Amino acid sequence: MRITIIGSGYVGLALARHWRREGQHQISLTTTRAARLESLHGQADRVLLARADDPDQLLQALEGAEVAVFCQAPRGDRLVDPVVYRATYCDPFVALQGLLPALPDLRQIVYTGSGSLYGDTGGAWVDEDTPPQPRDGHGEVLLEAEQLLSACRSAQRRVCVLRFGALYGPGRDLLRRLSPLAGTTRAGAGQEHCSWLHLDDAVGALAAAVQRGWDQTVNVVDDEPCTGATLMSRLTEATGQDPVCWQPHLEDPAPRPDRRVSNRRLHQLGYQLQHPRVEFPRLVRLDDALLGAVSARAAASERGRMNHNLHRHADAVQRFLNALQPGTYVRPHRHVRQSPGEGFECFVVLQGSIGLLVFAADGTVIHSQRLQAGGPVHGVELAEDQFHSLVALSDDAVLLELKQGPYRPTEDKDFLACFPAEGTEQAAEQERCWRALFAEGG
Ligand SMILES: NC(=O)c1ccc[n+]([C@@H]2O[C@H](COP(=O)([O-])OP(=O)(O)OC[C@H]3O[C@@H](n4cnc5c(N)ncnc54)[C@H](OP(=O)(O)O)[C@@H]3O)[C@@H](O)[C@H]2O)c1
Repeated sequence: MRITIIGSGYVGLALARHWRREGQHQISLTTTRAARLESLHGQADRVLLARADDPDQLLQALEGAEVAVFCQAPRGDRLVDPVVYRATYCDPFVALQGLLPALPDLRQIVYTGSGSLYGDTGGAWVDEDTPPQPRDGHGEVLLEAEQLLSACRSAQRRVCVLRFGALYGPGRDLLRRLSPLAGTTRAGAGQEHCSWLHLDDAVGALAAAVQRGWDQTVNVVDDEPCTGATLMSRLTEATGQDPVCWQPHLEDPAPRPDRRVSNRRLHQLGYQLQHPRVEFPRLVRLDDALLGAVSARAAASERGRMNHNLHRHADAVQRFLNALQPGTYVRPHRHVRQSPGEGFECFVVLQGSIGLLVFAADGTVIHSQRLQAGGPVHGVELAEDQFHSLVALSDDAVLLELKQGPYRPTEDKDFLACFPAEGTEQAAEQERCWRALFAEGG
């Protein structure tokens, strides 16, 4: 089939790549920016510079096409001025109506619409037969675009509108987008429903619409409309981050529309979702935000250091971040375990710089080593009988530590008795002396 994809953004480009891999169709792809032409080269059989609201350019893009897929969106989406919004969504379909006599081969038009047309239904379910209730001028433009497109339908020409949920996927990763909200306090109860759509299913549904010649409006959303509170608790449970603290008594200054979009028709048409609901990977990201948060807690603590455990208390391997601030005193110790070899300790510096001191049993320093996030020495593994201490050589220094577990506070450390206890004036003096060793180039 000869297919033109208007718009080579997140969806249009992924669709072109999908068809390119399949190798069955002849694909033309458009962009409005000359600077993108080179990077798009090879993603389709033909790449053109075309604005869909310019009738001449649209005609050139669609000439000979049997199928047109419209995936255009303004840059910055809802933030743009309503005039640009109209030029992006409505003007192309006004132009298309005038061009139809010159496009005798065109037998299907597919358009990526939006479930936002349904507005706010207070959480009630909506399907394709529910009258749209746009919430604002942008929604009205999207409704008008669909109406203009419907007027292009004829006995020879099918028109399919896919109303998408909120898109996510590679490059628009929900874990990355939503993680900054973990641990924050938010006005409202987070009970508004939103429907999501993975990029794979946006592409899959577009390909199915073309392959099976769909000629109707279809909601393309996942199976489970999800509230913000549910989504965030799934994320924080999977990643071990702090939950969001919702404040139902406070009014949300930017309330989100609440609607549940049904995908029954999509299922009836035989489409099987690859991502029926938003899933978060069970992982903890050791990212700048986490390192920054643990460092801030270390700075606020009396000891000048703070652990952030990745393990659970009873785990056989203790894994944790240890943030240290200059001035913190780590009394020299070694780790004692019941079985030989289990008293090892592994440090890797993730941020800043740490001074490691290794002691003989009489308290003599037998080795000092600067460990630094940027190298040349990033970390060490210490054997079980090595007495050691650490000093922070930079603000916000963070280590990843690995030790044998489970942690038994009374048995974990064997201190070198010749050094002062933590919290004493002598300890503070001792820490300054050790830090000075590194200032002298150690
Ligand atoms: N993002 C969502 O969550 C969401 C939700 C529901 C529906 N949708 C719909 O899904 C579709 C695809 O969205 P997307 O995220 O892939 O968009 P995108 O990444 O922003 O890409 C938009 C593409 O449209 C092109 N374009 C802009 N103005 C144009 C014009 N006047 N004529 C022709 N092409 C034009 C852009 O051209 P350049 O290459 O020059 O930049 C770009 O290639 C859109 O119709 C959008 O409304 C998206």
